[in-house]
Amino acid sequence: MRQAGRYLPEYRATREQAGGFLDLCYAPDLAEEVTLQPIRRFDFDAAILFADILLIPQALGQELWFETGEGPRLSLISNAESLSLDGAQNFLAPVFDTVRRLSQSLPQHVALIGFAGAPWTVASYMVAGRGTPDQAPARHLAHSDAAAFQSIIDVLVAATIDYLAAQVAAGAEVLQIFESWAASLLGDDFERWCVAPMAAIIAGLRARGIKTPIIAFPRAAKAHMGDYCDAVKCDGLGLDTSADIETIRAQTGPDMVLQGNLDPMVLVEGGEKLEKQIALILQKTRGTKHIFNLGHGIVPQTPPEHVARLIELVRGEN
Ligand code: CP3
Repeated sequence: MRQAGRYLPEYRATREQAGGFLDLCYAPDLAEEVTLQPIRRFDFDAAILFADILLIPQALGQELWFETGEGPRLSLISNAESLSLDGAQNFLAPVFDTVRRLSQSLPQHVALIGFAGAPWTVASYMVAGRGTPDQAPARHLAHSDAAAFQSIIDVLVAATIDYLAAQVAAGAEVLQIFESWAASLLGDDFERWCVAPMAAIIAGLRARGIKTPIIAFPRAAKAHMGDYCDAVKCDGLGLDTSADIETIRAQTGPDMVLQGNLDPMVLVEGGEKLEKQIALILQKTRGTKHIFNLGHGIVPQTPPEHVARLIELVRGEN
């Protein structure tokens, strides 16, 4: 998801040149190029590294491929036995190379965001071998063999700390951790599989002396967001489209940086509806620590002119 450039013809051209999506992720010159493309066109304040959350499972030894028009596929696992941390960061070296290039080529005023998937979300793909609407295979394993599932999560926590630390060493200025499937867990399950691993990653990075701001994105999580932020110790919180900004702001207090939550479908639609939505978010966030952004990934059918209009409206406010 995110799916950055697919709405841009220049992305589609570079992707074609790369061959496949994963080839693009592992070609530092081309991954650099597609990261820069939206910045050139729209002069955003931040660029997000071009990569994918599923590169970590691949680096750990799981097979990964993308079925055209369908999405990711992985060989099936049900415990951590076939996963290996040895060599994983070497495998990911092209990503660090992309980050290094970007820290040179991005304009000074554009922040570079590095990222990874949160363990629960990544594990949900690893256990199902694909994306699922309800993460049932992962939830089933977490209940039927919690020790086996925990072993997968533990490997992911360790690999993700190394991966994000290496991105910072290469020049990432902000980190974002995507928990796209936070909504499928509740109560103790949410605490164990979403909160604890996210907290462990952030604590692990801080223990290494890394002070880089970290944004957590627990998409559509049903927990109290003040408690979540306190528990994981993030510096910023990404809001999905369903989040009510004022409610979350009241829960987190004035110091938390919030990010989001314009509906990507409204950006596809454009026109008056888009203008109204943007005005509403600007009004609700005026004077608060808020990063204007979408509530989820930009969709491929988004007309680039609507993005240009969004920038105009948001900048006009400042
Ligand atoms: O904004 C960006 O594009 C930056 C890089 C980025 C990608 N994926 C590139 C990508 C980021 C930050 C991601 C995150 C990601 N990837 C998430 C979590 C964030 C979220 O939005 O919830 C998840 C769950 C994935 C896994 C993934 N990658 C899926 C399910 C798919 C298939 C989606 C589809 O509709 O086909 C991808 C593919 C993917 N990742 C593309 C891109 C640009 C599309 C590849 C292409 O066909 O060109």
